[in-house]
Amino acid sequence: MTLKKKIIWSTISVFVLLCFYVCYVARPVDVATDTEVEGLNSEVEQILYYAGLAPSSHNAQMWDVKVYPAEGKIVISPDTSRLLYAVDQESREAYISMGAYARSCMLAFEAYGYNTSLHVSDNGQSITVIYTNSGMARDEGLLNLMKRRHTDKREYTSAAIPEFFQEGLKGIRGAVFVPESTEAFSLIKDQTLSAAEEQRDNQEIRDELADWLRFSNWEAEKKKDGLTAEQNGITGLGKVIYYTFGTRWFAKGDTFAQTGYEMAQRQAENCAGYLLIISNDTNIGYIEAGMHLTEAWLYAVRNDIEVQPMSFAVENKARRFAIQNALKLPYTPQMVLRIGYVDGAYGTNALVRRDLKDYIEVK
Ligand SMILES: Cc1cc2nc3c(=O)[nH]c(=O)nc-3n(C[C@H](O)[C@H](O)[C@H](O)COP(=O)(O)O)c2cc1C
Repeated sequence: MTLKKKIIWSTISVFVLLCFYVCYVARPVDVATDTEVEGLNSEVEQILYYAGLAPSSHNAQMWDVKVYPAEGKIVISPDTSRLLYAVDQESREAYISMGAYARSCMLAFEAYGYNTSLHVSDNGQSITVIYTNSGMARDEGLLNLMKRRHTDKREYTSAAIPEFFQEGLKGIRGAVFVPESTEAFSLIKDQTLSAAEEQRDNQEIRDELADWLRFSNWEAEKKKDGLTAEQNGITGLGKVIYYTFGTRWFAKGDTFAQTGYEMAQRQAENCAGYLLIISNDTNIGYIEAGMHLTEAWLYAVRNDIEVQPMSFAVENKARRFAIQNALKLPYTPQMVLRIGYVDGAYGTNALVRRDLKDYIEVK
């Protein structure tokens, strides 16, 4: 073979290998959540799979679940090994996430034709869901909605939120809509950006976030929690670059923190408005906020409206109260959701969720 042919063949081989590598790394993450739990029937296993699709901060899934099948009872409590001690020092977001899990649990049971009721213990340390089969038909629409719900960090268009949606929100407890280009919107945006700047410069918060970031499909598929490239809004070639060069060490550094801050800045400014979820500033209030969050988020999904929580401002007590006072809200804002429309198809959930037996114990 002549030198020229050797060079051509080597170039083609490298190119083909590169294509394989890019396709392999860019493929969507595919987490196989094992739903099998000894002692549960397959219907309850399926129901608890849907419950586990609830949102949680950093996708830490910090819920511990005990099921008492003979009594038709589920007890949800915080998993202290999964709390976010730097960014969520009072476990406020852990309670919100537990509340979201509890409401998702009730909705999943109801979608399978069960009646449910809920009881929260005095200090909010545990939530009990009671379920009884009512024999009603299955609601596939609700189950699809729960699977379709996701966090969307992409760029939103300038399209406004329609009146009918704003009217409908008035029927959801704790939901307050703040349209873009209002004074209230600017105030929340400014609080969000100042808080994001503080977090950018906080090494403990950076280190904690880095621990929950996933740097390959393989890592996400093994750990089944945390934030993948897609969940950070990074897809296609961007994902290949992120997974090829990104490391936990790099994610703890100044450059990554500054890039994250600039992304937050763009996201805070680029939306049709903020949806606030308000409640009492107590453990029980946080659980309620998680329940209201679930209702409001599913209502948005039903109407093809994208949602991204932006929690920077409400992660600081003084800032949450400053927003409450400035907007004269009856309760404290616990969640700030950036909402709007995207160009192109409605997003999907990356479905990165742990195996049920990792956090469910049958009694
Ligand atoms: C209490 C709470 C706070 C959150 N804060 C943020 C946030 O500040 N920024 C963000 O992009 N997502 C935030 N999220 C969204 C989670 O990261 C997301 O729910 C999780 O990664 C699972 O992904 P999914 O919502 O697509 O199922 C928050 C979720 C909850 C429940």
